[in-house]
Amino acid sequence: MRVLITGSGGQLGRDCAELLAEAHTVLGLPSARLDITSRDQVRTVLQDFRPETLINCAAYTAVDRCESEQERCMAVNGAGPGILAAECALISCRMIHISTDYVFNGRRPVPKPWHEDDPVEPLSAYGRSKLAGEEAVRQRLQDHLIIRTAWLYGLHGPNFLKTMLRLALSDPGRTLRVVDDQHGALTWSRRLAKQITLLLDSEISGTIHATAAGHCSWYEGARCFLEAMQVPFSIQPCDSSEYPTPAHRPRNSILANTRLQKAGLDRMVAWDEDVVRFAQRHRDRLLAEAR
Ligand SMILES: NC(=O)c1ccc[n+]([C@@H]2O[C@H](COP(=O)([O-])OP(=O)(O)OC[C@H]3O[C@@H](n4cnc5c(N)ncnc54)[C@H](OP(=O)(O)O)[C@@H]3O)[C@@H](O)[C@H]2O)c1
Repeated sequence: MRVLITGSGGQLGRDCAELLAEAHTVLGLPSARLDITSRDQVRTVLQDFRPETLINCAAYTAVDRCESEQERCMAVNGAGPGILAAECALISCRMIHISTDYVFNGRRPVPKPWHEDDPVEPLSAYGRSKLAGEEAVRQRLQDHLIIRTAWLYGLHGPNFLKTMLRLALSDPGRTLRVVDDQHGALTWSRRLAKQITLLLDSEISGTIHATAAGHCSWYEGARCFLEAMQVPFSIQPCDSSEYPTPAHRPRNSILANTRLQKAGLDRMVAWDEDVVRFAQRHRDRLLAEAR
């Protein structure tokens, strides 16, 4: 299959480009080579490469900066996917678009998860822009798959686990205070890329959730990772009020992969299993990067 990956310089985009290239003809384009907000650029690439599936991993993901840069955030996360979808429609190309748990308001008791058809109500500019992107894709292209995921980490690019490691190594005597009142499922971008590989060959469409199984708080996630990394650390749980941020974040970000499960296509695994595997597989490289 001919597959175009946008945002291929990012965390998920790189994993998708690497994995899919094993079985498909892949063109991965980072932002410097394709700006998804430019209809001209998108049209030229699509007309030249003629993909059968486009996977949109491009997004403006700096959640707090989105509050002060709402125009850019809406252009990349809201309008960009609409441009891609409209251009895909012209060449009968399927589009897989990545969205987020931040479309939900998180006001639901833990561990009750969010299902695909639950009502959306984003709390932040980022969440509103991602919701606008979902709606634009639905309006412009029938042959689409929107995958909502959450709490991504991976080898490429900055993420929460790498930050925890850097902080633990930079001052081993210091006690890390980590938020314990937001809940979700840390999801390995490589696992999601594998799931996407399977979905490429399936006919599933519409909106689905794909996150790791189970749930944790940021504190529990950090603890599990640092233990698996076998570095000295001291950590304490704290309330999110200790770390006020420009963007409001959902308290409960737990997504249920309901549609994937019903279709017999769910290949995601328990969050802690993957966090440990990620740490064990990449320990040396993660340590070298963090020091
Ligand atoms: N990270 C998470 O925790 C998380 C959680 C839920 C959902 N998601 C969603 O998952 C997807 C992948 O996220 P990620 O963690 O891989 O993010 P990421 O590492 O920030 O990658 C996003 C990529 O998009 C590129 N990009 C930004 N503006 C662009 C534009 N106008 N045209 C083309 N490319 C552009 C960025 O390139 P530059 O760096 O060059 O700007 C970056 O390489 C996104 O849709 C995100 O919303 C992420």
